[in-house]
Amino acid sequence: MKGTFSQKLKDASLAVTFRDVILVPNWVEVEPKEIDLTTQATVNHKLNLPFISSPMDTVTEAEMAIALARLGGLGILHRNCSVEDQVKMAAQVKRAESLIIREVITLSTNQTVGDAMDLMQKHQISGLPVVEGGKLVGLVTGRDVRFAHRTLKVKDMMTKKLVTAKEGTTLEEAKNLLHANRIEKLPIVDNEGTLRGLITFKDIMLRGRFPNAARDEEGKLLCGAAVSPFDLERAKKLDQHIDVLVIDVAHFHNANVFKSTKDILKEVHADVVVGNIGTYRAAEDILTKLERVAGIRAGIGSGSICTTSEVAKAGSPTLFATAQAADALRKHGSDIPIIADGGIRGPGDIAVALGAGASTVMIGNLFARCKEAPGNLVAIGGRYYKQYRGMGSTSAMAKRYSMDRYSIPAKGIAEGVEGWVPYKGDLATVIQELADGLRAAMGYAGARNISELWEKAEFTVMSAAGIEEAKPHDILLPGEA
Ligand code: XMP
Repeated sequence: MKGTFSQKLKDASLAVTFRDVILVPNWVEVEPKEIDLTTQATVNHKLNLPFISSPMDTVTEAEMAIALARLGGLGILHRNCSVEDQVKMAAQVKRAESLIIREVITLSTNQTVGDAMDLMQKHQISGLPVVEGGKLVGLVTGRDVRFAHRTLKVKDMMTKKLVTAKEGTTLEEAKNLLHANRIEKLPIVDNEGTLRGLITFKDIMLRGRFPNAARDEEGKLLCGAAVSPFDLERAKKLDQHIDVLVIDVAHFHNANVFKSTKDILKEVHADVVVGNIGTYRAAEDILTKLERVAGIRAGIGSGSICTTSEVAKAGSPTLFATAQAADALRKHGSDIPIIADGGIRGPGDIAVALGAGASTVMIGNLFARCKEAPGNLVAIGGRYYKQYRGMGSTSAMAKRYSMDRYSIPAKGIAEGVEGWVPYKGDLATVIQELADGLRAAMGYAGARNISELWEKAEFTVMSAAGIEEAKPHDILLPGEA
């Protein structure tokens, strides 16, 4: 046995949580509005805001992933569905916006006006390039065919004098060409005249509306997806669509999980995030036993719907887990970004998590409240709420096993609960509040950006009386009247 119980008690570290600590106000030379919140989600993917949504079936499907990426964060699509449905969601996020459309829907010269109309309606698009043997020969727009007879041939209706651009055309060049020629579509062709892509006015407008969006190198929205460590086939299918693959398991520091993660790491191209972990040793084992890991997700049992620490009496509060991982990474000279996951109740918690060494935070509860989350909206006692459930709750697990009735439940016991969270409307409003609050907190800490916060953040531990005093007191608040 490794030491007596009293020795173990003496050696026990204090697992501090968000509510235990407070940031020490520092010497400040920066105004909150000048603070830069850009960060790394993973080794290769940058975000404009340090917010990632949880892979949970009441938090992240395509609508949330699109909305969050447009605002500068990253959505991780949940895996409580068939592979096909998860891939469909990923494709939807990737299709939402791009500078250059690569899978262009085209017509051939022998097709009819009727075919053109049907295709435009089916795909909700306003124009189609016409190709012959892969070469661009014309363009048909809604305006060309609006009053034409359906049996007419496309080749007799199409515009043949085309403005095109070459591969590598920048956003500015495309904008100028579209404007100068008063056109809405700009086909991209190679030296042989083969159609390689299409830039549209609509996509350029969307970029203007979301200048802060988190995008891949083709201008599409960044997208992540969760996968079980034991589901290599799903990982490979998702890999064709997404940028970030999250190995999604409650306790990553496990021999079998490490072994199967190695296989996934060998097979996929996406940046792989592993987790969740809660200790220095787990982070150290990731650094020394696995290659190509691009992100670490820290925190076990702090989530608002978690019952792990209660049921299993095991866990690692998100702040403590983040600090443990950050210490291990620092010792090994690694700059793999850490995602602090679970228990975030507001911007102050985010600032503390980042100050402890995280690059981003993962949020379930606060995002489940938004319009873009998939949970049902219900009215209770004259107020609106949205459904929110843990992925280890009885009903979420039941859905998983009903999809694959031959799968064996990993655990016979629920480690999550389900319930309702107050409805907050648009994600954009919630994000704005979190970003403004975070900037204010970083302002107190005197940090211009997140890496400066890692260096400058100092914490003090609050006393029980201090925690009470930090809330409004000796006043009757409107909600309580
Ligand atoms: P918040 O506090 O934002 O936390 O609601 C979201 C995180 O909680 C984790 N999660 C669970 N943990 N049982 C758990 O112990 C569960 O059923 C469960 N479902 C989600 C997950 O890490 C998520 O990001």
